[in-house]
Amino acid sequence: MELGHVVVLAGGLSYEREVSLRSGRRVADALRALDVPVELRDADAALLDALGRDRPDVVFPVLHGAAGEDGSIRGVLELLDLPYVGARPDACRVAWDKPTAKSVVRRAGVATPRSVALPKEIFHDLGAASVLDRIVDRLGLPLFVKPTRGGSALGASVVRSAAELPAAMVGCFAYGDAALVEQYVSGTEVAVSVIERDGEPVALPAVEIVAPHGLYDYTARYDAGDTAFITPARLAPEAAAAATAAAVTAHRALGLRDLSRTDLIVDDSGEVHFLEVNVAPGMTETSLLPRAVAHAGLDLGTVCRDLLLTHLT
Ligand SMILES: Nc1ncnc2c1ncn2[C@@H]1O[C@H](COP(=O)(O)OP(=O)(O)O)[C@@H](O)[C@H]1O
Ligand SMILES: [Mg+2]
Repeated sequence: MELGHVVVLAGGLSYEREVSLRSGRRVADALRALDVPVELRDADAALLDALGRDRPDVVFPVLHGAAGEDGSIRGVLELLDLPYVGARPDACRVAWDKPTAKSVVRRAGVATPRSVALPKEIFHDLGAASVLDRIVDRLGLPLFVKPTRGGSALGASVVRSAAELPAAMVGCFAYGDAALVEQYVSGTEVAVSVIERDGEPVALPAVEIVAPHGLYDYTARYDAGDTAFITPARLAPEAAAAATAAAVTAHRALGLRDLSRTDLIVDDSGEVHFLEVNVAPGMTETSLLPRAVAHAGLDLGTVCRDLLLTHLT
C-alpha cells in the first residue's frame, strides 16, 4: 500500500510552539524527500474542518507541550477515526505526568530520583516555609525543581542551597500548577530514542548531552553551539546497555507506541536514573532523536515513512 496523503501536525499553542514548527518542517521535508505527499498543518481552529474535508491516510503529530503530549489531540484524532503515529491518549496521559510516569517506570525496575510533587495549592495551604524545610531535611541537597508536566526544561532549575529553593519554586509555578522536587543526580545525561520495528521497540544508540553549565535548559537546547552532543554516549558498555534497556522498559511499561525518547542520567557507579519520557520527541536539526537515527545509519524520512505505513488500513 502507498501513502497518498499524510498530514504532519505541528505548532499548537504551547510554550514549545516554535520548536514544534521546526520539528514539523523537518519531518515534512524528510518525508517529501522520499516523495511522500505531505501537508503540514497547525493545530488551530481550521484543523478539524480541513481534516474532515480531505481525510489523510495517516496523521503524524509533532506537537510538543500539553495538547501534543497529554493525549488530547490524539483523542480528537480518534474521534475522527483518523490513524496517527505515536502513543495512544491513555498512555500519553500517564507519560506526560512526570510523577505518575516515574512510579510506573520504577515499578518496572528502573531507578528514578527520590522526589515529592507539590501542587501550588498544597504549598500555599501548608505554608511554603515549613514545607520547604522538610523537603530539604528529607531529600537533601542539591535538588532539581521542575514542573510536573511540561517540557524543554522551562521552569526548571538546580537548587544548591536551601536559600535557593523558594525562588526555584516560584520560577517553576510560572510554568505549571505543580512542582516536582527531585534529588539532583550528577553523572552523564543521555537520551535514548526508541523506535518500533515490526511492533517491537528497538533502542537507538544513547546520545550524551553535555550542556554548558550542566543544565540542559531551553537556550542550551535550541541555540546550537553551546551544548555538545556525543553519539554514542561515553559510557562503559554495561552502563550503555543498561541505559538502552531502561528506555525499552519505560516504553513498554508505559504502553507507548511507535516512538519515544527517554531522558536518563547515568551516575558515576553506572546506575541509570529515569527522568522522563517524551511521546512527541523533538525532531529539529539539533534534536536528539534525529541524531540517534543518523548515528544508527538510518534515514529520518525512511523511519517516519515506515511508522506511517504500519497505520495504513
Ligand atoms: N533529578 C535531576 N537531576 C539532575 N538534572 C536533572 C534532574 N531532572 C532534570 N534534570 C535536568 O533538567 C533537564 C530537563 O528535565 P526533564 O525531566 O528532562 O524535563 P523536560 O525535558 O520535560 O523539561 C534534563 O535534561 C536534565 O538536564
Ligand atoms: Mg527532557
